[in-house]
Amino acid sequence: MPVTHPYNDELHARFGLVEGDADDLPDNAWLRQVLTRRTHRRYADRPVSDEMVRLLLATAFSASSKSDYQQASVIWLRQQARRDRLAALFPDMPWIGNAPVFLVFLGDARRLETLGEMHGIPQDNGALEGFFNATVDATLALQTCILAAETLGLGSCPISVLRNRIAEVAAILELPDKVFPVAGLCLGYPGQPGFISMRLPLAATLHVDRYDSSGLGEAVAGYDQRRDARHSLKDRQRDPGRFGTAGFYGWSADKARQAASPEGTGFAAYLQAHGFGFEEPEEA
Ligand SMILES: Cc1cc2nc3c(=O)[nH]c(=O)nc-3n(C[C@H](O)[C@H](O)[C@H](O)COP(=O)(O)O)c2cc1C
Repeated sequence: MPVTHPYNDELHARFGLVEGDADDLPDNAWLRQVLTRRTHRRYADRPVSDEMVRLLLATAFSASSKSDYQQASVIWLRQQARRDRLAALFPDMPWIGNAPVFLVFLGDARRLETLGEMHGIPQDNGALEGFFNATVDATLALQTCILAAETLGLGSCPISVLRNRIAEVAAILELPDKVFPVAGLCLGYPGQPGFISMRLPLAATLHVDRYDSSGLGEAVAGYDQRRDARHSLKDRQRDPGRFGTAGFYGWSADKARQAASPEGTGFAAYLQAHGFGFEEPEEA
């Protein structure tokens, strides 16, 4: 057991255990910071300057981009009235309305089509590939923004619940066809320390050379126990009327129950009504 692992404390904090060897690892403060990162939903009463938001967005748009197509866009919600209309759709998540900064990261499959029009080379970017590439670009920009913000001492919370009320959100943000929210992002200086959310071990998530989930049951069982020892969900069982009360209630049971109620209903229909066909692209 590599008790002298240079990232021992951070790995324990994140995984509740340390897997693997520790030979010849660089000591890097930023890795320590990422290993112990966390989402923040409560913010200090300290403003975030416009210059800082612009710097974070410049950093976010520095993320990799599929084929250099650059299909991410961001809406920075600055007008309080518009922000309030959006926040009112999600009263369970007051941080959408009260975070010092609120951004919406968009997959933007429209801009590439506009470039085609500008050059007299029309193309349709509404197939699954176009949707997926725009989603990935927006997601990479989102995560780059999160890590950049954390590097400057800010906290953040991505907000995908926007997609649950997609038509209303799109109307408030005046989204054209082929532009869709991947997630919002609350930003601000943390108001509380927050907590590290433990992750599955690499035994569950890393496959070497071929996909092999034969050890998944054991890996998840161990993870459930470690997570329960740190933060028990025993008294917060989801929907016991439907699922009963479990003797042991860990993360996997909680996620199984959560996923039994579908989210994002209406999103596919919205996309289909707004430019995405998901058909196979025609051969050139
Ligand atoms: C794409 C995405 C969407 C999310 N949407 C929401 C959301 O709508 N509301 C919310 O409170 N948290 C949201 N979260 C935050 C997650 O709940 C959080 O990342 C997760 O519980 C793990 O915690 P951690 O980031 O502190 O490790 C989202 C996170 C991601 C990556």
